[in-house]
Amino acid sequence: MTTKTTARNETQTRGYGSVSQKKSTASAGGTAQSAQPATKQRQTTTANGSTRATTRAAKNGTAATAATAATTSAAAAAKTAKSRSTSAEPHRDLLRYRDEFPILQNKVYLNSCSLGPLSRRSMAGLARFQELWNEHGAQAWYRLWLGEIAAVRAKVAQLIGAQPHEIAIAPNVSIALSEITSGLDLGERKKVVLADMDFPTLAYQWLVKQQSEVVFAKSADRMTLPAESFAPLVDERTGLVATSRVFYLSGYIQDIGALAQIAHAKGALLLVDDYQGTGQIPLDVKKLDIDFLVTGTLKWLMGGPGLAFIYVREELIPRLHPTVAGWFAARDQFQFRTTDFEYRDDATRLEAGTPAVAPIYTASAALDIVLEIGVERIRERTRFLADDLIRRAQEKGWPVRSPLDSSIRSSIVMLGLERPDELVHGLTERGIIVDYRPGLLRISPNFYNTVEENATIVAAIDELLRARKG
Ligand SMILES: Cc1ncc(COP(=O)(O)O)c(C=O)c1O
Repeated sequence: MTTKTTARNETQTRGYGSVSQKKSTASAGGTAQSAQPATKQRQTTTANGSTRATTRAAKNGTAATAATAATTSAAAAAKTAKSRSTSAEPHRDLLRYRDEFPILQNKVYLNSCSLGPLSRRSMAGLARFQELWNEHGAQAWYRLWLGEIAAVRAKVAQLIGAQPHEIAIAPNVSIALSEITSGLDLGERKKVVLADMDFPTLAYQWLVKQQSEVVFAKSADRMTLPAESFAPLVDERTGLVATSRVFYLSGYIQDIGALAQIAHAKGALLLVDDYQGTGQIPLDVKKLDIDFLVTGTLKWLMGGPGLAFIYVREELIPRLHPTVAGWFAARDQFQFRTTDFEYRDDATRLEAGTPAVAPIYTASAALDIVLEIGVERIRERTRFLADDLIRRAQEKGWPVRSPLDSSIRSSIVMLGLERPDELVHGLTERGIIVDYRPGLLRISPNFYNTVEENATIVAAIDELLRARKG
């Protein structure tokens, strides 16, 4: 079986600027994506000589010296990236955002798919929350905080093409999913179809429910999963197709429009876990005909932990009766009626108790940055950076375990390198922050990164791999 790539994600994401790249074919056999050995060598050390500095320090035998030199070199790389990139980089207008993120001055930060960096605006937002608390005490709830929560719902709605009353907040995606699953009666349609590449928390929602029948569409190459793979699994007994738009394990972008058609043709609903998509790949929930969506601020929205969102298509809101309930879900909440309960009319019926306000202020400011730049522009930039990173990895002959075709790949780049945990450790000592999943090093450039930083990490990995060989 061969997966043909098409331009469908351009439709899904509404025409972000494209970086030209040859179309590739993803083989279900799983080997076609492995990088070919380099045909020519690239200059990989950074112009500021950061790699040499760390090598020398390491040879001197003190890990501490190596780490210090490495951190200094990462900081130097970051500064150099800032000063030189204006002449070398495209999307120059985005480089001014580097000053927004203090961490970029000291680290090469390539880990947005795990934890987005903290911005100055978010720090100011958090400080503002504390000031308001000090200034108004409990009055802050009514005068300001509830208003800010509503503002955040509206910002997220704008970001994903929804209406504000279709958005609820939750403390994390797992709870967001529990709100939906506890509230959605699928009747006789007990079957839920997921992907084996989804983040586990999604499947757990139904695996813990004895009455559910859980089936998985399976990726043959552990990277991609054509929408057609779901079709034979979705039938009249299927209540829900639940899967992610972007796979956390490969960066693959699923064809959500096609999945909506497959689900709806059989009378099933579609739930999308968009934690790895929102903020990096444009989205219009209406155009894609999505029924439910969950996402959060930790990663590409750069708003830190503690805040997630639920989108429910307007028509479906009355169908949801969550048994994870609370007074924030109650109509006329401030009437304090103890002896009866009525759900709110809008998506906030999926909320439960007092929300955490600090993450609201942190995330609200970060959402402003994303909205200001625009996700289409972010996608243009990250697509360019991920392509550049993959090209550099291929030139080193490292196996790339993300799709090569950038129209179906996000800015999550997986490299099939042995003992990735050790590499993450070695890179951290050099001031370069990435992470790993079993057998895979995971690198995720965002709009504020530079090609210089790509070069820095590739040189550092190269050095660590050479050190292994002795
Ligand atoms: C796609 C995806 N969904 C869900 C989660 C977990 O979300 P939470 O910890 O907010 O429940 C993650 C975390 O990395 C993720 O990548």
